[in-house]
Amino acid sequence: MCGIVAYIGKKEAFPIVLKGLKRLEYRGYDSAGVALLSAGELSVYKRAGKVSNLEDFATQHNISGHAGIGHTRWATHGLPNDTNAHPHVSMDGSIALIHNGIIENYDSLRKELISEGYVFKSETDTEVLVHLVDNISKKENVWFGEALRIALHHVVGAYAIVAISKNYPNRLVAARKSSPLVLGIGTDGDFYLASDATPIVEYTKQVVYMEDEEIAVIDLEEGLKLYNIGDQQKTPYIQQLELELEALEKGGYEHFMLKEIYEQPRSILDCFRGRLNTDEGWVSLRGIREYEDKMIQANRLIIVACGTSWHAGLVGEYLIEDLARINVEVEYASEFRYRNPIIHENDVVIAISQSGETADTLAALELAKSKGATILGICNVVGSSISRITDAGSYTHAGPEIGVASTKAFTGQVTILTLLALTLAHKKGTITTSVLHTMLAELEAIPNKVKRVLETNAHIEKIANTYKDATNALYLGRGSSFPVALEGALKLKEISYIHAEGYPAAEMKHGPIALIDENMPIFVIATQGNSYEKVVSNIQEVKARKGKIIAIVTEGDVHVRELADEVIEIPETNEYLVPLLATVPFQLLSYHIAVMRGCNVDQPRNLAKSVTVE
Ligand code: M6R
Repeated sequence: MCGIVAYIGKKEAFPIVLKGLKRLEYRGYDSAGVALLSAGELSVYKRAGKVSNLEDFATQHNISGHAGIGHTRWATHGLPNDTNAHPHVSMDGSIALIHNGIIENYDSLRKELISEGYVFKSETDTEVLVHLVDNISKKENVWFGEALRIALHHVVGAYAIVAISKNYPNRLVAARKSSPLVLGIGTDGDFYLASDATPIVEYTKQVVYMEDEEIAVIDLEEGLKLYNIGDQQKTPYIQQLELELEALEKGGYEHFMLKEIYEQPRSILDCFRGRLNTDEGWVSLRGIREYEDKMIQANRLIIVACGTSWHAGLVGEYLIEDLARINVEVEYASEFRYRNPIIHENDVVIAISQSGETADTLAALELAKSKGATILGICNVVGSSISRITDAGSYTHAGPEIGVASTKAFTGQVTILTLLALTLAHKKGTITTSVLHTMLAELEAIPNKVKRVLETNAHIEKIANTYKDATNALYLGRGSSFPVALEGALKLKEISYIHAEGYPAAEMKHGPIALIDENMPIFVIATQGNSYEKVVSNIQEVKARKGKIIAIVTEGDVHVRELADEVIEIPETNEYLVPLLATVPFQLLSYHIAVMRGCNVDQPRNLAKSVTVE
């Protein structure tokens, strides 16, 4: 969480940093601030709330500078107010610093610094960094970059840091450990730094993804130099960004979330493009091809993920176990990493993460790796930390997902897991070539079927209007539709703040049924398939308690239509692929309810897109 951005060069820094902060606002929006260097002076502007507050405030001043650092905060230590906003500045006003991550030993460092006369203004963990750098610089008579390098030996925790000093107006210094940092090399001898590539792509496509415990020293005359924290110089590995600027715009939609929901026919297609051939009857995820045998022979596959990605993992468990008959366990990364799990060398651990930066998922992988397991990744963000630490992986190719609520990333993850299940099943011989053909043909038809689901938007909007004032909601599904129910409930609560629970439909009678009354909407996935009749029985149980049933059914269904208060039809498809279609009405429903309730759809309260703290 928290977004950081910096610029040094011949252009005006403030507009670049401000625009970058707007792009990174999905990472946190509790406060925003900038520090700029101009004519040997360091000026700092910071404001609680969104980047627009900072913009309003800062534009009342005559702001300029050739170098600037900016920060948008997701509060961990201290309230979201002006004082706790970054940048934090040394007591003599010479050094300013921004930070994403958590300094775990900040309390002991703070006490030591206070005993040496340092006065703290904020409640943040970050402020210790700037005083520590200042202290080391003065005591050891070294410049602030060297002081930062030494300081990092005393720091426990995660960080992406950028610092500037008015005593070195031509320099920026940056460091990272466990929090992402991308460096852009401009065409004009200028340099950019940011938590991800989105603030940089407009200016350059030449980037360096900084590695853990690397320090970048950028000097306008000497250029970029990269070191490890042991002070050994390294050669920067320059990569070409594949991101396109248009992907970062709303493209005429009112919200990023709506745009991303509507992108799904394309994003699902991009996800399986080149990875299957129905006529020739093959499917392959090139990135992990050399690990197919390892997965087939594995003791078990362990999927680690958080939030929506964890829901995708549950769909994957259903698919891989059923089709490929391989034992799969799906774990919350945050629980897995702390419960001393039993991991064998012949386990394969697969992380699923849109951002590729989720701290718990990253830590779970590191743990698995330390125990000798093979680690694989399914990520959306190219070049992200998870994609770099894993032995191999597959990208979802969904394009940038900017709305905090995950939509197209989920369907991308489920698509990859479907391809994986089919690959393993075919190779292992647990499905016939003819089943493979049928499944691949069905998968190829999914993008058009998602388009047809999107055509029901007006109907879904009407349903949203009926239930927008609900205070509670229940989502029910069976088999691979159970994770879809969980995902539907998560979408509703995170953007509309209505309490919602996802449940296996049959579990309802073991507790949640007590909640049902005539005001309670119950969203049920009741599509044709093995458990259709069972779900119909669960619907009857709800109706007997006067609950309101909104059912997702297969086109042409008559039975559930008679029982339900509302139905939303989705095209017929293979039962394994239902999650790819049934998720979409729930996304639209949550979207419309949130809009009708006046909620900030793209940036829901208290959330951040990329959870880089545990
Ligand atoms: O980037 P990741 O997929 O690792 O993120 C995991 C969760 O934080 C994320 O899915 C979160 O639950 C979304 N806001 C849900 O919409």
